[in-house]
Amino acid sequence: MATILAIETSCDETAVAIVKNRQVLSNIVASQIPLHQRYGGIVPEVASRQHVETLNGAIAQSLQDADLTWMAIDGIAATCAPGLVGALLVGLTAAKTLALLHQKPFIGVHHLEGHIYASYLTAPDLQPPFLCLLVSGGHTSLIYVKDCGQYETLGQTRDDAAGEAFDKVARLMDLGYPGGPVIDRLAKQGNPAAFPLPEGQVSLPEGGFHPYDSSFSGLKTAVLRLTQKLQQNDQPLPVADLSASFQETVARALTKRAIACALDYGLKTIAVGGGVAANSGLRHHLQKAAETHNLRVLFPPLKFCTDNAAMIACAAAEHLERGHTSPLTLGAQSRMAISNVMQLYKPII
Ligand code: KG4
Ligand code: ZN
Repeated sequence: MATILAIETSCDETAVAIVKNRQVLSNIVASQIPLHQRYGGIVPEVASRQHVETLNGAIAQSLQDADLTWMAIDGIAATCAPGLVGALLVGLTAAKTLALLHQKPFIGVHHLEGHIYASYLTAPDLQPPFLCLLVSGGHTSLIYVKDCGQYETLGQTRDDAAGEAFDKVARLMDLGYPGGPVIDRLAKQGNPAAFPLPEGQVSLPEGGFHPYDSSFSGLKTAVLRLTQKLQQNDQPLPVADLSASFQETVARALTKRAIACALDYGLKTIAVGGGVAANSGLRHHLQKAAETHNLRVLFPPLKFCTDNAAMIACAAAEHLERGHTSPLTLGAQSRMAISNVMQLYKPII
């Protein structure tokens, strides 16, 4: 398979990686988290400027780490959707310029397809069809992976993404940003049964609940009400118990939907992706439920769960192998359904 240099700048990580045959030759991730921490969330304009500052150095470093020159690179890829448009444009413009300069094919990649491909980096034997549970700061989706470029979204969140819920709940407990890792750490010292919290359900017009869609805004409001009530006691907030109870509710809700979806569609493997895949509560519940139902669950190592460019390179290599390349006129898009990824590639005549 081709050797791909990929750039990922869709949010707050400036990432560059080189991947060959699903082997990661270099993987640079320059996180901007400390820069955004003081604002309690990502400031898009600050993110774009920081990508501009960091990207050229990261590209040079990735070639140096892989001990390669441009001669050895078969294709140049970048995330082009979905994400913060200003941030996406930095990586996308750099990749297109390099492709033109070095006369290499250019491959635009959908960010969520990258998260799906993160699983292939450590499980090269993985074969579609399988189910991907994608849980990040911006997305919560159950995606039926039929083949490279062929995806169907079977379930999604109707409001906040799972990671966003972690971030918002952490903020209302004054735990800082990003919330997921802090809540995960605190939850280990807390009692998950301390505060029973409501699992958000999505009602169907014909009655009953959607089996795969989720909703986290009601849960967030329930935690808000609970913290307001607890604060009236003039005691320090029981953040460990609150974190454990919140995490338990999210982990159970995601596990229930992923297992139901895999069983209903006859899919034997669930590949988990996105930053929330790092969550120890989710890992525990999903692993246990999967064993009961004889399903395989793949959790990529943490460095491939959160945003990185190795996953983008891995997806791009698969597309290039199939003759899919993108026009240099390809633009950045803040939103794009994963079922439309083939629109990123030139028609094969
Ligand atoms: O995939 P990602 O790096 O970026 C997006 O594309 O969104 O995911 C970042 C999200 C953040 O919301 C962060 O709080 C969450 O992943 N996260 C976690 C954990 N580590 C990161 N959530 C729960 N538990 C964790 N251990
Ligand atoms: Zn992501």
